[in-house]
Amino acid sequence: MISPDEPLHVLDLPQLYQKPSGTDLIKALALLSLQPRTFGTTADVVKGPAVQPEGVTRYLTSIIASSLAWLDADELREAIWDAASARLSERSGRTAMPAMSRVFNIPTSSGEEYTLTLHEPSLTADNLGMKTWVSSYLLSRRLHGLESPPSLVPSSTDATIPTQRPLRALELGAGTGLVGLSFAALRGKSATIHLTDLPEIVPNLAHNAALNIELLNRTGAAVTTGLLDWSVTPSPLPTEEQRYDVILAADPLYSPSHPKWLVDTVGPWLSRGLNARVVTEMPLRDAYLPQVKEFRQRMGALGLAIIEEGEEIGYDDWESADGGALAVKCWWSIWGWSEKLE
Ligand SMILES: C[S@@+](CC[C@H](N)C(=O)[O-])C[C@H]1O[C@@H](n2cnc3c(N)ncnc32)[C@H](O)[C@@H]1O
Repeated sequence: MISPDEPLHVLDLPQLYQKPSGTDLIKALALLSLQPRTFGTTADVVKGPAVQPEGVTRYLTSIIASSLAWLDADELREAIWDAASARLSERSGRTAMPAMSRVFNIPTSSGEEYTLTLHEPSLTADNLGMKTWVSSYLLSRRLHGLESPPSLVPSSTDATIPTQRPLRALELGAGTGLVGLSFAALRGKSATIHLTDLPEIVPNLAHNAALNIELLNRTGAAVTTGLLDWSVTPSPLPTEEQRYDVILAADPLYSPSHPKWLVDTVGPWLSRGLNARVVTEMPLRDAYLPQVKEFRQRMGALGLAIIEEGEEIGYDDWESADGGALAVKCWWSIWGWSEKLE
């Protein structure tokens, strides 16, 4: 009897020389399914595999190479080869993983946790928004701490006029939507949020908003999704009513053009009100440190200043060279218009 409680050795699985039944092979291949690592703020949230990794690749390739001649049905043979190929591609790294749905728990200020389900299509190098990245996980877990005034409140250019309308929020480069959907659920009726990304990413973003409709309806959240390309200057420029009180962005910098494009997008879309805020979190990966530095400089040149910032470690779902969880240092920051800060 195969039990996933203790990691098995590959030799505990049905061996081809024993001519195992198709069902036993399918069950064994299901056990070898690799779930992506769970994101976490500590390394110990990572769940180990059901089967020790030694020898698994050889086991899978031997199944793919076998004619499985003792099995009766072509369909069964095909299903076994397909499952073995899928298990092999999962082991080629996250980029080769098939599409999957993942569950994220987001803390609220009441101590309850909200559960979001996000679909992640298969990832390729030019559609990075199909995956949920570690800094968005960290930022979504930080959002409940920003709930109480005066951190994030509707913005007004006249401090003497109390503002009653819901907070207007915009997410840039929303990807699978973890940050924006968490924000929407946490804020409920008190905010509206528009989740944006490039055209190839928006359909899955909209799908993820629909996947979480029960939670969003329960909290009264108002979410829309749409295209917003940072490389395009909005025309005509948004009016103050069309601008946003809060702009959110997680892991937005990974090419030399991104700091300029991103800040050039924040400029026209951020409300000029007293409480306008930009909230970001991004990994401090060595290769992208110049972009982070340029982003800080450009935000400053636009007239924004950091109100609060910090660093924290998260664990990405990419494996490190030793097969363990990969620690990633991330930087979060909250910005406001410098001339409006006391
Ligand atoms: C590394 S992913 C991060 C996605 C998500 N925020 C997260 O952290 O999981 C970067 C995102 O920025 C988006 N992006 C890149 N260039 C963009 C542009 N010019 N305009 C709008 N979005 C862009 C990508 O499509 C992708 O969704």
